Amino acid sequence: MVCVNTSIPTRPCCKFRVEIVPTSPKPQDSRAWKKLTQLAALSIQSRLSDLSAATDRFERSSYRATFGHHEILLDLSKQRLDQPILDALLQLARERGLTEQRKRLFEGGEMNNSEHRSALHTALRAPLGERPESVRDLVEQTLERFVGFAEEVRSGARRGYSGKAFTDIVHIGIGGSYLGPRLVVEALQTQFPQRLRFHFLANIDGEAIDRCLTGLNPETTLVILVSKSFTTLETRVNGESARSWFLERTTNKQALAQHFVAITANIDAAKAFGIGEDTVFPVWDWVGGRFSLWSAVGLGIALAIGASGFRNLLSGANAMDEHFLKTPLENNLPVLLALAGVWNYNFLGVNNHAILPYDHRLNLLPDYLQQLEMESNGKSVHTDGTPVGIHTMPIVWGGEGSNGQHAFHQLLHQGTRSFTADFLVIANADHAHDVHQRWLLASALGQSQAMMIGEQGKSSHQNVPGDHATTTLVLDQLTPFTLGVLLAMYEHKVFCQGVIWNINSFDQWGVELGKQLAEPIFDQLGDNSSLGQDTATKGLINYLKGQ
Ligand code: F6P
Repeated sequence: MVCVNTSIPTRPCCKFRVEIVPTSPKPQDSRAWKKLTQLAALSIQSRLSDLSAATDRFERSSYRATFGHHEILLDLSKQRLDQPILDALLQLARERGLTEQRKRLFEGGEMNNSEHRSALHTALRAPLGERPESVRDLVEQTLERFVGFAEEVRSGARRGYSGKAFTDIVHIGIGGSYLGPRLVVEALQTQFPQRLRFHFLANIDGEAIDRCLTGLNPETTLVILVSKSFTTLETRVNGESARSWFLERTTNKQALAQHFVAITANIDAAKAFGIGEDTVFPVWDWVGGRFSLWSAVGLGIALAIGASGFRNLLSGANAMDEHFLKTPLENNLPVLLALAGVWNYNFLGVNNHAILPYDHRLNLLPDYLQQLEMESNGKSVHTDGTPVGIHTMPIVWGGEGSNGQHAFHQLLHQGTRSFTADFLVIANADHAHDVHQRWLLASALGQSQAMMIGEQGKSSHQNVPGDHATTTLVLDQLTPFTLGVLLAMYEHKVFCQGVIWNINSFDQWGVELGKQLAEPIFDQLGDNSSLGQDTATKGLINYLKGQ
């Protein structure tokens, strides 16, 4: 277990703090922004490792908080942060009205103003009495229904058309209707051994569906179609192919309703597909796709870890919600994580951020956070539509440690680009390979240390410049509860950055254009025309047709 002897430092706070409502849509007009610009110019004059020379650096710059009987440590001691910088960042958060916006989020205010929607994913994991009344019963009834359904499948009470128990679950969805469920199932599956096997299908590539369905027995396969819109191209085409696969082998149209379930806000489309009313589970427009694993979108998770496991996941997320809502900004983990990001991206010029989970179970976390962070905060206009004039979310990428050390870490240590990284570490493993675990932890700590201090080599080829800021997050264990804590923390981090940048974190208009442009190209790849295309695209269409 990583030994931590610090408690959350309490900062002196003004007795009569008044929340400041931003008067300008632009964060760069705020006093704190100007102060931070000056602090950044000073900060870069010294090396990051100089900060860590202070003997109490770790105690002063790491934060721990308790959730149930679990603890999470947020270590910012390898960040280029000191007290004046932190104070200015906190001031920025206050000037941007973060406290009020946080309250609005939980109360169901219109957070997504381009689509006039609230973003009430927190209601999905709140205890019954603490949910906003407008969604209270809806959430409860749906939760009861889908976890009940999951338990029936798990126990074998609900079976396929020929009376055999289900053995294989095929989850079809993409983006938010895929990444979260897959991440959680793959992270926790081994803790809940059972007979069901899980298969995830997202890509429209025919190779993907072949690999997914080959060898499966339709009599014992349950297909979950997850699409909030029920119009997403990939899910529609994969769903139709899965239906044909099923009908060709069973020749039993009636059986379809027993083998296909849907999670969607478009109930009529799911019914038209052939899914029975009792196995269509709703999601709602106030749950964004990338925030939806807590809803019926997580049916696959409930199938993998059972009703009580799923409820523990929700409880963990709710514990983080409570922390986020009630903890002063200066000790608030998602707020601090967000502020460290803003500092790096807006004041120190960092333009990419790596997610480095040192735990094989979390190997999908970079993909999941890529969507959460880049689809939410990859925006260039403020909520009122005016251009931002500053940078917002940089590229998020990453991969599991220690594999990455033998691949892309070379560039991190000796390349010319700046970056920041989050190291994710689970202190206590679930396996009995103590040597592996100790090496895994040592590798994570050794990498962040190398990134911070670097080394003067015998020749320039061997120089490792260091001076790269990283954050280390430590969970004591990986359980449904702690995974809920972790994922909700990142959701709130994203929200905080969206508030500071004054952008809409809950829409994703940018993804639409590519979808529209693919439509005529699809037709033209099948006929003789390439009318209306630019010459480069026309050339590729014709080349592909000639192959
Ligand atoms: O195209 C982007 C997107 O809309 C994501 O925001 C969403 O998570 C994904 O597609 C899937 O959407 P749906 O659940 O409607 O199929």
